[in-house]
Amino acid sequence: MRRQLRRALVTTMGRPLHWFSNTVQAVAAVNGTLAALYYLLFSRAFRREQQATLAGKVAYHRCRGRLGASSTVLRRNIHRLEKGLIMSPRRIPFALDYLDETVEHFVASFQEGTLNARELEWADHVLAEYFACTGHEPAVERCRRLYLAVKQEAAGGREGRVADRLIPSPQGALPHCPVPYDDILALLKRRRSVRWFVPRPVPRGVVEKAVRAASLAPSACNRQPFWFELLEAPLEAKRVAELAMGTQGFSQNIPCLLVLVGDLQAFPHERDRHVIYIDASLAAMSLMLAIESLGLSSCPINWPDIPSRERAMQRALGLKVHQRPIMLIALGYADPEGGVPSSQKKPVSLLLRCSTPSSSRSRTSASAANSQAPPPRRRRCSSSATGGRRGRGDASRRRVERPQGRVQQIRTQVEETTSD
Ligand SMILES: Cc1cc2nc3c(=O)[nH]c(=O)nc-3n(C[C@H](O)[C@H](O)[C@H](O)COP(=O)(O)O)c2cc1C
Repeated sequence: MRRQLRRALVTTMGRPLHWFSNTVQAVAAVNGTLAALYYLLFSRAFRREQQATLAGKVAYHRCRGRLGASSTVLRRNIHRLEKGLIMSPRRIPFALDYLDETVEHFVASFQEGTLNARELEWADHVLAEYFACTGHEPAVERCRRLYLAVKQEAAGGREGRVADRLIPSPQGALPHCPVPYDDILALLKRRRSVRWFVPRPVPRGVVEKAVRAASLAPSACNRQPFWFELLEAPLEAKRVAELAMGTQGFSQNIPCLLVLVGDLQAFPHERDRHVIYIDASLAAMSLMLAIESLGLSSCPINWPDIPSRERAMQRALGLKVHQRPIMLIALGYADPEGGVPSSQKKPVSLLLRCSTPSSSRSRTSASAANSQAPPPRRRRCSSSATGGRRGRGDASRRRVERPQGRVQQIRTQVEETTSD
């Protein structure tokens, strides 16, 4: 009876309600304040993200950037020092606004002995290099003395051979790229989302190798604010996989599951709350490619931001509020008979847009920010290969002009900022 009543109510009121809700949303979308009011009054969709971001900020200040065996402050600042060291010309002295913090973190980490050895070694080598090429300003001197005192105190605080030192090196000294484009394309084509696996356990060593590959992915300021939670027992993998919405029909045959978790404790500012998703996703892609190269397959699984599911995952993995699931990845040996959707990809012409009109090319970012003019219109890149209609003269002019505009833009940005 009650169900029928509800159905009748939905049928009669559904349309007007839908219209009302669409109208309210359209009005609220006009500016930020109205949008915030809308979410405060009508929707709880962002509550958890807000709480997680704030909890992360509080946790950051409480532990001052230390995440157990890693220090996000040290990682970021050492990265910034390395960037300062590669500037050409080098602006000496640099890093004065964060040198104190960096050396204090280094000293604390040295004394506590909790930091992982590789991170400590990296910080040590970069600081040594920084002090070797920086003058004797009072601010630098104080930090130098602190650094050297700790180094002398520590047993075995050797410098190591120059070749082994974890400091910036010329690009030309990097290992040669051994993978031709066609081979990387073949690997990328071979990686598909596989949902049917044979019941064969995934060796821990294979997962470790894949995570090693994932660890080489880029991350903002080299913080790497995420980890992979491994569920190797098929029953456990199934239970956790079912917390996500997209595993219906195949969760029961996932032999091994990874949950990629991002930690907002790495960030003191709200502006960086999205970084966990970017960093973790880049690592996820590397991991899936590595898994493929090791003879296994994978399927990324969406993690929906739904409070009840977040709470369930929090309980399952023992997560804190600021530790957010990013996505799940099913792993296993593919069943060769299992179907794989064709999942046609978008053509390059839809994925690549080339900017920008010549009027905005010569503008600096500052003047562009002050301008009331509408943003430059973007258009799809077209080349002779993709059947563009522009004349040849036009295309060649664009080829000549665009890099200059870009170089100018980059120069301006580099001049304006010293951090990521
Ligand atoms: C972030 C993300 C979330 C995904 N979530 C699911 C999911 O919940 N369930 C599922 O079966 N596949 C999921 N997939 C797989 C996509 O459906 C798949 O990547 C897409 O269709 C392209 O196919 P391909 O991976 O074989 O190239 C997800 C992929 C990504 C990148």
